[in-house]
Amino acid sequence: MNVFITGSTGFLGGELLVSLSKRTDIDRIYCFIRPGNDTCALDRLKKVFYIHNDFFDESRIFPIAGNLFDPHLTESLKANKILNDTDVIIHSAANTSFSRIYDDMLEQVNIAGLEKLLIWAKHLPELKTFVYIGTATICGSNIRARVVHEEESPNAKASHLVRYTYTKMQGELLVDRHLPAEKVLIARPSIIMGDSRPIIPRSPVILWAVATINQLRLIPVNEKAMLDMIPVNYAADSIVELLMAERKHKVYHISSGVSGATSAQKLSVSLAAHFSDLPTFRFIDKSFLKDIKLWAKNRLKPENPLFDFRLYLDYWNSCFTDPGAVRILLAGLEPYLEFMELGQAFDNGRLLEDAPAVKQSIPAEIFIKSCMPFIGKINLLEGALDP
Ligand SMILES: NC(=O)c1ccc[n+]([C@@H]2O[C@H](COP(=O)([O-])OP(=O)(O)OC[C@H]3O[C@@H](n4cnc5c(N)ncnc54)[C@H](OP(=O)(O)O)[C@@H]3O)[C@@H](O)[C@H]2O)c1
Repeated sequence: MNVFITGSTGFLGGELLVSLSKRTDIDRIYCFIRPGNDTCALDRLKKVFYIHNDFFDESRIFPIAGNLFDPHLTESLKANKILNDTDVIIHSAANTSFSRIYDDMLEQVNIAGLEKLLIWAKHLPELKTFVYIGTATICGSNIRARVVHEEESPNAKASHLVRYTYTKMQGELLVDRHLPAEKVLIARPSIIMGDSRPIIPRSPVILWAVATINQLRLIPVNEKAMLDMIPVNYAADSIVELLMAERKHKVYHISSGVSGATSAQKLSVSLAAHFSDLPTFRFIDKSFLKDIKLWAKNRLKPENPLFDFRLYLDYWNSCFTDPGAVRILLAGLEPYLEFMELGQAFDNGRLLEDAPAVKQSIPAEIFIKSCMPFIGKINLLEGALDP
């Protein structure tokens, strides 16, 4: 089996690539990678393996330099005859930003870039499976405090908290438009955070949100709302198992499901045990977010009920010399808090039934313990600039 994979320099894509590279039933892996400003695609590919001392087999794993922005992408992939023996495409590349300033880029990468890939893919003589890495959050923000099932999406009427999930929903629709159902596997991970092994996670993106919550300690979110989180190694291994399995469905959640779901409260217990020198966690209604923003701008009136939590305001003053820092952190954190508030868990029955080697994931409040050494090292203000 020959696999073409995109996004392998990313958080999930990197784990997928390493997981695939360890399988003896995979012959060649073509990795679509954009070269860096002063790094070639091959050097970027090597780093994916070297970060955790995995073996990079140059005789089986090849970089294919390219960029989803390239207007001639379809033609250049078609012209590359080496790729004609591709049986499986795994499309993990995406722009995953929650920030509005990237809205145009999200469309160009997640929709236009995908379409260029699909037009090439549908003419590949050997193509058996196109794996689209979607996201369970395409179900939108109308669904609250319940279990979500695969067949509920894509739903054109869904409201989206961020443009990212909208573009990922459009991506699924595009895949369906270009390829027959029997050639499609849509894997929709829930929230991927950290790694359950005691190793440096490839990306601190969601860990940034956790680290920020850990530092702030007074959090305007419903602490009991269900949170569906899985570690990246579980997500990657599950997708590879599904790819190789006899599947009854086209779409699968890669998720904790309701029995493995966590909550802000459960995560806070694990965080508090490790970072015991910080104030006790306190969760307050999400409506306080606007008051916290006013406080950070020095515009909160003294009679405001937020002053009941003065201990935390004093604590913030002691850890951030400029209250503007709290404003920057909250601006980055806000979309995460909104997702947390939804209380969604994604049914994992299909995954557990059709990929028997995959077991129920470890709850996030447990696996997060192996991420603690990295949480304390995350630069919060830097991470807030591109949440
Ligand atoms: N992380 C999560 O919690 C989560 C949850 C559900 C679903 N997903 C989905 O999982 C997939 C992987 O996410 P991730 O967390 O691994 O994202 P990530 O760490 O941000 O990685 C994104 C990957 O896409 C590549 N990419 C971006 N723009 C590109 C372009 N113009 N041309 C070529 N490659 C480009 C990046 O390459 P560079 O290294 O060159 O930037 C990188 O390899 C995405 O489809 C995402 O929607 C993620």
